[in-house]
Amino acid sequence: MTSSRFEKENMPEPKQTKKILNRKEEHLKIPLEYDVQHSVNYFKDIKLIHHAIPEIDLEEIDLTVNFFKKKISAPICISAITGGHPLSKEINEILAKAAEEENIIMSVGSQRIGLEDLSTVDSFKIVREYAPSVPVIGNLGLGQISSTYFREENLSDCIDMIKADVMAIHLNALHELVQDEGNISYKNFKQNFKKIRKSTDIPLLAKEVGTGLNQEVALMLDELGFDGFDVGGTGGTSFAAIESKRNNFDNDKYSRNPADVFREWGIPTPVSIVNVRSVSQKLIIATGGLKTGIDIAKSIVLGADIGGFAYKFLKSAWQDRKNNTISNTIREIRTLKNELSSSLWLMNLRNLSELKNKREKCVIFGDLYLWLNQ
Ligand SMILES: Cc1cc2nc3c(=O)[nH]c(=O)nc-3n(C[C@H](O)[C@H](O)[C@H](O)COP(=O)(O)O)c2cc1C
Repeated sequence: MTSSRFEKENMPEPKQTKKILNRKEEHLKIPLEYDVQHSVNYFKDIKLIHHAIPEIDLEEIDLTVNFFKKKISAPICISAITGGHPLSKEINEILAKAAEEENIIMSVGSQRIGLEDLSTVDSFKIVREYAPSVPVIGNLGLGQISSTYFREENLSDCIDMIKADVMAIHLNALHELVQDEGNISYKNFKQNFKKIRKSTDIPLLAKEVGTGLNQEVALMLDELGFDGFDVGGTGGTSFAAIESKRNNFDNDKYSRNPADVFREWGIPTPVSIVNVRSVSQKLIIATGGLKTGIDIAKSIVLGADIGGFAYKFLKSAWQDRKNNTISNTIREIRTLKNELSSSLWLMNLRNLSELKNKREKCVIFGDLYLWLNQ
């Protein structure tokens, strides 16, 4: 890394770094200990159309896909989860080894702490050590990009830290709003983004984290120069629900915790996919409440390219950590692949391009139908 980082004025005090570290640990443990999933998952309103006589053999089905310059074995992404804490290092090691063995995409969590506290960098670096060949996605937040102290070098430091193939900029306005340490001023975002867009050739993704994207934002981000999207809609992990389990609510000031009130806020993942695809031809990762390989197929039928999973892989890696193995995570990836190729077989499709954006291959019911038709 170069010597440039966030300006000194923006460097956290040691007490604040400790606060970020505690937060990292809580973010890892709360989803495992409590139910912080959105209560409605709209993938249930999509039915893929069954084809009674598949005329191809299951083994002939090709799940391979290009993710920018690299070819991966299946359209599966281990979504951004963690980094910056000793526990994160263990989780990232497991996830990176599994991603490498199965040739799928690996992501790291927000690298902000790696820029601010060099002692945490190894928890990110370990990913490239154990995943030397697969695509690795780095991660930095809208809050950092929007900071008046942000410099282009901050982005290149993140890229260098993990030799990132792609960088995701996470958009987490609701999450910032409901946590007391939150960063909620994004006025400099466009102007700062234009500078970083010029400063790097690697693909940049705009990534929501569980509240989804509407068409207006997607179009603006497409025109600004993003190379793709991670729609991160509702249906899976709710960051408001995570924050409501942390002890940060000032009940002298307000009568209700906004983290409880806004728990279900946002645009469902299937709706976000359709929103983005209607205004952009760029790459789409679908995250937010995908549970099985059928959900990957449903995402692709709506126009996505890749399915991303955070909660599922956090759970498998946590189990693996206890047993000192990577076998649960590997089994999970293989299960997803098997469910996806089974879905294609039952639809008599040979490969993912025969499925992508083919709305006639599904029927949409219920509340999702209403969402999409208003
Ligand atoms: C413990 C945890 C930590 C996360 N940290 C990040 C992060 O640092 N950056 C980011 O872009 N998304 C982060 N996410 C969001 C996920 O990448 C994903 O978009 C979201 O959880 C929805 O997927 P899911 O329903 O499969 O969990 C995190 C998710 C979890 C569960």
